Amino acid sequence: MKKIGVITTGGDAPGMNCAIRSVVRTAIYYGIEITGIYEGFKGLYEKKFEKLNSRSVSGIINQGGTILKTKRFYEFKNKEIRERCFENLKEEKIEGLVVIGGDGSAKGAYLLYSEFNFPVVHIPASIDNDIYGTDYTIGFDTAVNTAIDAIDKIRDTATSHERTFIIEVMGRECGNLALEVGIVCGAEIVIIPEVKFEIDKIVEEIKEEERKGKKSCIIILAEGAGKAENLSKILSEKLPDREIRYTVLGYIQRGGRPTYLTRKLATIFGNKAVEILINGKYGYMVGIQENEIVYIPLSEVVSKTKPVKLEYLDIIQKMSI
Ligand code: F6P
Repeated sequence: MKKIGVITTGGDAPGMNCAIRSVVRTAIYYGIEITGIYEGFKGLYEKKFEKLNSRSVSGIINQGGTILKTKRFYEFKNKEIRERCFENLKEEKIEGLVVIGGDGSAKGAYLLYSEFNFPVVHIPASIDNDIYGTDYTIGFDTAVNTAIDAIDKIRDTATSHERTFIIEVMGRECGNLALEVGIVCGAEIVIIPEVKFEIDKIVEEIKEEERKGKKSCIIILAEGAGKAENLSKILSEKLPDREIRYTVLGYIQRGGRPTYLTRKLATIFGNKAVEILINGKYGYMVGIQENEIVYIPLSEVVSKTKPVKLEYLDIIQKMSI
């Protein structure tokens, strides 16, 4: 392989820059030319290519976002668009591609591989940690830490005013971010899309905690399970004596300086992705399972759903007594 490409697609995640740096420098280490593709699959379609060198990725290890930019490009679902992308790769003489992104990006990477037999390796990067085959995605640890910072501050007000706070966190259709945040922030209740919730049970739980002398309460709500604003209205009606407030953490979870774990994962994933690509192992995602680096066929990644750690709900409940 003489030339490979690197692309970030879908939602940005902290650590994408670390992964780009690692991919670029590993490729250069092995004497392979590396092309940065800007703006995700949209940029691949529009031929937004640029040759990168070691210095192109200087000083980005500590930066959130992605220097390659990213876009949601729903048109990639269209086969003709993908054919054009494949032609563009060929015209540019790119012989292999490292795709850095979330579950949608894994699907895109898999299509390029399965339809055109194009050598692709995927690196999982998403704050949602919702990708099958890896215990952690790049950016998840940073997003959890960002949420911890915010919720610790909110707790001050919750305690001082004896209020019930509903804090909505991201995660799309997956409750992993909410569960992880809930367990480390000492939340009393965590609501996730994977488990149907009953409002009366939540009301009862809050009342029970009040009887035990707990006057404030933190509820973590995964965005996939509902809107904090709606839940806040319902709880205010059912618990007129309680002061209910809500906060939507939103995009602060997507940005910021990558943490130690995010940087480490991104650097190792980037390095391994290039090494397997140039050694002829295509159509895989690099992942981590029980602290070991693993390679999962993309066909499996895109067809399976990552299970959430439902046992955390039990721990959260026990910790809230
Ligand atoms: O996948 C990352 C994520 O931040 C989700 O948690 C969220 O639902 C979604 O992206 C928001 O997407 P967008 O950036 O397109 O608004």
